[in-house]
Amino acid sequence: MEPRTILRNVAPGDVAAYVRMRCDPAMMAELGGPVPRDGIEDKVRRDVRDAAADKAWIKMIVPAGDLDAVAGTVSLWSHELDGEVLSEIGWMVLPEWQGRGIGKRAVRTLLEMARADGRWGFVHAFPGTANAPSNGICRSLGFSLAEEKEIIFAGRPMLTNHWLIDPRTDL
Ligand SMILES: CC(C)(COP(=O)(O)OP(=O)(O)OC[C@H]1O[C@@H](n2cnc3c(N)ncnc32)[C@H](O)[C@@H]1OP(=O)(O)O)[C@@H](O)C(=O)NCCC(=O)NCCS
Repeated sequence: MEPRTILRNVAPGDVAAYVRMRCDPAMMAELGGPVPRDGIEDKVRRDVRDAAADKAWIKMIVPAGDLDAVAGTVSLWSHELDGEVLSEIGWMVLPEWQGRGIGKRAVRTLLEMARADGRWGFVHAFPGTANAPSNGICRSLGFSLAEEKEIIFAGRPMLTNHWLIDPRTDL
């Protein structure tokens, strides 16, 4: 059965969860490899600030039965790509929580929030072409596949599938 989860804003105490997600070779295999440990406190600080300012939605996925635990993360932010400002969604689920529908549920929840909020327009996602579960999430939530695209993630090039969805009509 799928565990019940809630989404909450990232907080200063999430450094350990970030380290587990971003500095681990297996977690980052489809994201260009792990990032250096020494930048994580800074990254959490910036994410907490951007989430508090409502500039980006940076959510931790928390199991409803254990609010001190973290199962993963899902984020929606806006940035410039090829001279165009776009909204992008990204996600990660820690190994012990994977394969139980948590990633898909969290992405759907954030897209429902985006639909209600109205500011984000089309939402883009760029999973690696070999990332079966992430491409599965896009396909089954109603994203359309636009193209294969090389993007820079955490400073490194990565071949991705470019998916997009209009949460107002496609979800
Ligand atoms: C990708 C990731 C977020 C998936 O989260 P998850 O909670 O395990 O995924 P779910 O259980 O919600 O499954 C999502 C879909 O993928 C499918 N799926 C899950 N694992 C799969 C696998 N190993 N191979 C193929 N499909 C798979 C599921 O069946 C589901 O599709 P469906 O609804 O059509 O049945 C998680 O594996 C992860 O964090 N990996 C490492 C980091 C990463 O790659 N992040 C994503 C960057 S875009």
